[in-house]
Amino acid sequence: MQKEIVVVGSINLDLVASSSHIPRAGETVAGSTFRTFPGGKGANQAVAAARLGGAVTILGKLGNDAFGVELRDSLEQAGVKTGPVETVADSSGVALINTDAAGENAITVIPGANAYLSPVDIDANSELLRRAGIVLTQLEVPLETVECLARFTRQERVPLMLDPAPARPLSPALLACVDWLTPNETEACVLLGREEKNLSQAELQGAANTLLQRGCKNVILKLGVRGCYLALADGTRRAVPAHKVVAVDTTAAGDAFNGAFAVGLLSGKDPVHSAEWACAVAALSVTRHGAQPSMPTPNELERFLEAQSIGLNS
Ligand code: ATP
Ligand code: RIB
Repeated sequence: MQKEIVVVGSINLDLVASSSHIPRAGETVAGSTFRTFPGGKGANQAVAAARLGGAVTILGKLGNDAFGVELRDSLEQAGVKTGPVETVADSSGVALINTDAAGENAITVIPGANAYLSPVDIDANSELLRRAGIVLTQLEVPLETVECLARFTRQERVPLMLDPAPARPLSPALLACVDWLTPNETEACVLLGREEKNLSQAELQGAANTLLQRGCKNVILKLGVRGCYLALADGTRRAVPAHKVVAVDTTAAGDAFNGAFAVGLLSGKDPVHSAEWACAVAALSVTRHGAQPSMPTPNELERFLEAQSIGLNS
């Protein structure tokens, strides 16, 4: 039996307003639609992995409001086990998202219940974490919890994938515990302490090498429409191109990638093939609206790849 993927992370309700462009400070724009979707980086990665057939459990916190009930239901509908998710006496996490006509977004996250996930919860779930095939985490829960988790997984030799999002500088002690670091361009630049928040093609290898020197074992730079760049412990350096699609909403593309990459690795694919597969899953997700609803099943992915091979999606 395949080992379990355990996600330690945030669960949010996304309140999404679409308009032709994302409002600048002081500007009011007329929007076209308002929708709510289950989201949160942790929950999105868990749903992405479960839809693809992974055995997934999530450890997180929900509020004692109507959003909390809806969010738990969405996770369970996708096949994610929510046993360790406790409900706290506060609001559920919420993300206010503006999307534009090109599918780009701007997000404000209000942590709510996510802020209650503490090192005590890592301790209380040590058996679950010890048995995991891989643990996925992100930075929408308190940093001290992520650091405690990282010390634990390192001590127990359980592979840890850290999506360092939202962007913030991280300590060498934390990076040294990370097996798979998966920043997007902005996050990589923040970790590297760069003013400039873009990486040219020529800068990718140097940026990834510097992140490896900071102590993490493998780095995958997620590069949006450019695909991703892998720098692995065995010396592999490889750019994987993105699929050509018409993007309607890129929210959670990175989460689709991480969930799929974890399933790929646990099903025995090597890292390069896992990244190719994850790029396909993420590309399909950006052709759909919302975070969790955009995560595909294997059948949907197969149809997408067939259509790609005959040039139907772009
Ligand atoms: P998010 O924060 O929206 O979840 P991210 O910023 O962490 O995403 P991105 O690099 O934007 O991560 O996207 C992750 C992956 O999704 C990319 O590596 C790429 O494979 C795929 N992807 C993203 N945008 C597109 C696009 N417009 N077309 C095709 N593939 C895309
Ligand atoms: O990565 C996308 C997610 O970030 C959204 O679902 C939103 O909840 C924010 O947390």
